[in-house]
Amino acid sequence: MSVACEVWWSRPLASADDYLDTLDDAERGRFDAYRQNADKQRFLTGRVLARFAIARWLGTKPAEISFDATCQDCGKAHGKPRVIGHDDVALSLSHSGDRVGVAVTTGVPIGLDVESASRNATNDLINYALNDTERTALAGLTSDDAAAAFFSYWARKEALMKATGRGLKIPLRNITLSAPGEPPRLVAADDAALDPAAATLLDVDPGPGYRAAVAALTNVPVEITEHWASL
Ligand SMILES: CC(C)(COP(=O)(O)OP(=O)(O)OC[C@H]1O[C@@H](n2cnc3c(N)ncnc32)[C@H](O)[C@@H]1OP(=O)(O)O)[C@@H](O)C(=O)NCCC(=O)NCCS
Repeated sequence: MSVACEVWWSRPLASADDYLDTLDDAERGRFDAYRQNADKQRFLTGRVLARFAIARWLGTKPAEISFDATCQDCGKAHGKPRVIGHDDVALSLSHSGDRVGVAVTTGVPIGLDVESASRNATNDLINYALNDTERTALAGLTSDDAAAAFFSYWARKEALMKATGRGLKIPLRNITLSAPGEPPRLVAADDAALDPAAATLLDVDPGPGYRAAVAALTNVPVEITEHWASL
């Protein structure tokens, strides 16, 4: 037995013109509130890609898909989206730089995170994200390998946090992952929402210059199929 999961990748849409009408009022409000055009395009692309991916998963049309992204903390529409009318379907969205990704599955909480690996992995960033065990694991690597391993750690940790739906309320350093060079695995977590015996972590591939991972809160093997969308 295994859990099927599809991951869809896209670059941000070049123009909003053909797609703005596909947003609902809450989504349109969020699109309008972004100041930077790049943020608007990444947000819009996430919603277009999510409707496309879920519609394909369910065998229906993108226009039939609606999301409820009510934040569990404040009630605003910026939380983890769920598919209205399909409580068993789980999705997770992520954007970074020139990549937008959506993961979809059924019956299992899921998290996707993509990180641009082109920024500088400063000591401050490393100390923020990694605990002592993980920093020690980076110490023996060349600087290029350490930077690549750091962004893999980061994407894997955020994927786990996003699977729980609690996001950054789980401090990144409270999660301990397997060392670089080993298969990705949750080793320990100082948070009741994450159980190493019921968490599966897999790396996915958004292309050069990026690191990405999918986390599923299950001990059943997860079979991921990756696609690039032509929106
Ligand atoms: C979710 C979170 C980890 C985002 O990480 P990020 O690396 O900056 O951004 P990503 O592009 O990878 O992910 C953003 C997506 O995560 C999803 N998301 C939002 N809240 C989420 C949550 N609590 N759990 C899982 N996914 C969440 C959304 O789909 C969002 O994209 P969208 O708004 O365009 O739909 C981070 O924003 C967070 O912890 N948010 C919750 C707490 C918070 O700050 N709330 C706001 C104040 S009430």
